[in-house]
Amino acid sequence: MLSLLLVSALCLAAITDAGSNVYKDDQLILQDGTQPNSKQPNIVFILTDDQDARMDSLSYMPYVQKHLIDKGTQFRRHYCTVALCCPSRVNLWTGKAAHNTNVTDVNPPYGGYPKFVSQGFNDAWLPVWLQDAGYNTYYTGKLFNAHTITNYDSPFVAGFTGSDFLLDPHTYEYLNASFQRNHEKPVSHEGEYATDVLAKKAYGFLDDAVAADKPFFLAIASSAPHSNVKFADSWFGNNLTEHSIETSPPVSAERHKHLFNDTVIPRTPNFNPDKASGVSWISQLPKQTQENVDFNDEFYRDRLRALQAVDEIVHEVITKLEKYNILDNTYIFYSSDNGYHIGQHRLQPGKECGYEEDINIPLIVCGPGVPQGEVSDIVTSHTDLAPTFLSLARAELRPDFDGAAIPLTASTLDAAKDTRHEHVNVEYWGFALAEGNFGTKMYWNNTYKGLRLIGNGYNFYYSVWCSGEHELYDLTNDPYELTNLYATSHSLPYTFADQQKSVKLSSLLPRLDSLILVLKTCSSRECTHPWEVLHPSGHVKDLHDALDSRYDDFYEVQQERVSFSKCEKGYILESEGPSDIKRFSLEDIGTRGGSRWSELV
Ligand SMILES: *[C@@H]1O[C@H](CO)[C@@H](O)[C@H](O)[C@H]1NC(C)=O
Ligand SMILES: *[C@@H]1O[C@H](CO)[C@@H](O)[C@H](O)[C@H]1NC(C)=O
Ligand SMILES: *[C@@H]1O[C@H](CO)[C@@H](O)[C@H](O)[C@H]1NC(C)=O
Ligand SMILES: *[C@@H]1O[C@H](CO)[C@@H](O)[C@H](O)[C@H]1NC(C)=O
Ligand SMILES: *[C@@H]1O[C@H](CO)[C@@H](O)[C@H](O)[C@H]1NC(C)=O
Repeated sequence: MLSLLLVSALCLAAITDAGSNVYKDDQLILQDGTQPNSKQPNIVFILTDDQDARMDSLSYMPYVQKHLIDKGTQFRRHYCTVALCCPSRVNLWTGKAAHNTNVTDVNPPYGGYPKFVSQGFNDAWLPVWLQDAGYNTYYTGKLFNAHTITNYDSPFVAGFTGSDFLLDPHTYEYLNASFQRNHEKPVSHEGEYATDVLAKKAYGFLDDAVAADKPFFLAIASSAPHSNVKFADSWFGNNLTEHSIETSPPVSAERHKHLFNDTVIPRTPNFNPDKASGVSWISQLPKQTQENVDFNDEFYRDRLRALQAVDEIVHEVITKLEKYNILDNTYIFYSSDNGYHIGQHRLQPGKECGYEEDINIPLIVCGPGVPQGEVSDIVTSHTDLAPTFLSLARAELRPDFDGAAIPLTASTLDAAKDTRHEHVNVEYWGFALAEGNFGTKMYWNNTYKGLRLIGNGYNFYYSVWCSGEHELYDLTNDPYELTNLYATSHSLPYTFADQQKSVKLSSLLPRLDSLILVLKTCSSRECTHPWEVLHPSGHVKDLHDALDSRYDDFYEVQQERVSFSKCEKGYILESEGPSDIKRFSLEDIGTRGGSRWSELV
């Protein structure tokens, strides 16, 4: 009996210890004593839909500039992990990678609100956890796709003190929105400008939240600058075709229609290039005609115009927080669900790709202790937001989080430069949609695994497609991702920017591939510390360490390669190749590394 007790006490200690090892760092990076206020802060999250970081949209939002960028920290290397609304939002609100939510599409059977519910997340997601932590929670705007005027009550969305959702099939109809408040019936707002309707609801919730005198979380999720969309019924199921959806440029409020009439999409080197690039269907795209480019430029201007009503919301929310005298205890987050491309790589307007335009997205944070007017280059993703919000709420982080809280003070941001992970796990399943007026509308087999890896002296995007194709872009020398190094000879050397270190692509690629092998099925700490999975000894912390030649055999010969046996529309494990990860151990060291064995023991 005694020994049993002793054993369980020991186990308990071990578990607690392991738990604090895992999360101590993450907790500390937020609570380092520099936060001026020990009261649970309020959090306002302004979330746009399909807003790019790479086509300069933030430069056209004067209030975002004045109130957020100048007064907060902009995370220039913030990424979504799935460049599609619903999977990205479920990733964000659960803190779990898409392969762990298995909400990978906008519609059933692989995604949408019904899949979110059937996976059990309606009872286990951020608003519920925030309520448990003592918060009042409010949400207005678009939540998920396939959350409709017919299924909104089966079941109702859980976790909000007050909610007023934009519902399908009218989510992207700028002049015919349907909103659904708390447990009431949907209300059509035909003829009203959707973002202005949203604004009124947001201000109302802010007033309610302040009156309740509890810490609050308020999400304001506009559908701007998403394209204007009309859905056919066939969209909401497993049988959609290109006839199921009709897209047109976003619609702006009357008062913004005249703006930016000389503005065009930035003519970056990857804009409608003379040579096709990429792999799979992207490599087949024709160069766009002048008529197509003119249409896309107007589409771009319409996006900037549609964002103006969001910019006004930012101004009004800040003004109200000031008026209520709570701005100094409120964090404001500004982001988008995923990015957007128009014309880069000859693509029609849309997302769903792994290019920077699609995955690198705005994240601006301001609030108590957050450095003002700063830019941070630490690597962060949407998987990190739920842990970040919970940390701010002083709540326990969940052991099944796949992300890590984002540091928000000068000292923790500084420390993170050396200690934070260097990767983003990018995933995608299913189709890509061309949203403009030109070219083919739907591309299937857009299923791939991607890896963004940014460290000292390197900056890569590596991907493996269900077609068996691969990409490697070196963004240090090729920031516009025009040269696929994978398609060059693998015996060519790659030279790192900082250290003059040079390795062959045949050494580099297997390391990147092995990292995806870990990330594609990772959970919790494995997702933030994938090198540890490959090297349980803890001696390998980044790509530089992994490139040591004593691991050549381990990576280049022993480890299996990421592959697919078939292109699926969702996460079908059997079609996703090997997932058994070989872990490096002493026995794996060849004769080459012999003299350095001592380092490992
Ligand atoms: C607007 O939406 C309502 C349903 O909410 C629908 O009955 C009506 O026909 C729509 N109007 C237009 C112009 O599409
Ligand atoms: C799928 O849609 C097509 C037309 O768009 C229709 O002919 C077919 O019967 C549908 N299949 C199913 C299983 O609903
Ligand atoms: C663009 O706007 C400017 C002033 O804002 C105006 O003078 C000009 O006529 C407009 N051009 C077009 C094509 O509407
Ligand atoms: C998608 O890939 C599958 C094989 O996985 C193939 O049978 C099918 O023809 C491809 N579809 C297109 C549109 O390329
Ligand atoms: C993900 O969901 C789909 C649709 O329900 C299912 O077929 C698939 O097996 C699931 N994948 C995993 C890995 O659980």
